[in-house]
Amino acid sequence: MSLKLDSTVTLNNGVKMPQLGLGVWKVNNSGASQSVQWALKHGYKAIDTAKQYGNEAGVGDGLQKGLAENGLKREDIFLTTKIFNGDQGYQSVLDNFEGQLKRLQTDYVDLLLIHWPVDGTYLDTWRALETIYKSGKARAIGVSNFNITRLKDILQICSIKPAVNQMEYHPLCQEVDIKNFCDENNIYLEAWSPLGGGAVLSDTRLKTIADKYNKSVAQVILRWDLQNGIITIPKSVHEARIIQNADVYDFEISDDDMDEINGFDADKRSLWYGDFFWSGNPDGFKDSVDVWDDEPQFTK
Ligand code: A2P
Repeated sequence: MSLKLDSTVTLNNGVKMPQLGLGVWKVNNSGASQSVQWALKHGYKAIDTAKQYGNEAGVGDGLQKGLAENGLKREDIFLTTKIFNGDQGYQSVLDNFEGQLKRLQTDYVDLLLIHWPVDGTYLDTWRALETIYKSGKARAIGVSNFNITRLKDILQICSIKPAVNQMEYHPLCQEVDIKNFCDENNIYLEAWSPLGGGAVLSDTRLKTIADKYNKSVAQVILRWDLQNGIITIPKSVHEARIIQNADVYDFEISDDDMDEINGFDADKRSLWYGDFFWSGNPDGFKDSVDVWDDEPQFTK
């Protein structure tokens, strides 16, 4: 099996970011630690977490163990975390970011994102990210779940442009307008839930294409991401799937099949954030950290 998890894209500030990494949304701390260790064992070079996931400590633990077990150094791994909605605002971001570093057991992150565009605060939050960037504690900064209007807001006031916009992105949710805007502005689109949280894997059209390449649907979707110039972070708590999701460098999807998958876009998002307006959302969620009580079922 040829893993090329070292393959990188170059962000707009020159920093190189692995194009495929491990996501850990909906994984508890022990699960995150185990998944990160498996990922590092199998060659992954990038990990994506967030304060909101409630598992930064688990990721920090897995990172330390994974680095030691595999003879790696911290700088071999590209670590992303995100600013919690309840922490947004200039001083509050600065005050709370130190806790994130502590939980992650690191002095810096490679990419720091605004997790959601909380209206009324995201511009001040961006200014805080610039301060963190200039201090060297984040090698690159960006946003997540920003539509074009809000991206333009940031571009108008920023002294450092966002390097990345992380969005829900999979064959049924291709955010074509946002992708085009990001391309025009030299911002990389990064896919969260690239497998649609698992839901897209049962699409029979994708299965037909996957069978042609003797690959799984997950592998075809992730390969489609790579060929589309998308950064992607599939989540799994199963070692075999973590391996499988990285085994996407030994085949190429034809132009015709790429076009066919591009045609599957159905504007189908998995969450309720359809219009991206935080101000209209239930109050409780804005300040809550996700807690995943369900212990993942680990299998080899
Ligand atoms: P699990 O963690 O139990 O392996 P996304 O990254 O789009 O959010 O999707 C993650 C979901 O897809 C999780 O439910 C994960 O389950 C599942 N998953 C991840 N990789 C694969 C795979 N290769 N085959 C089948 N299911 C997968």
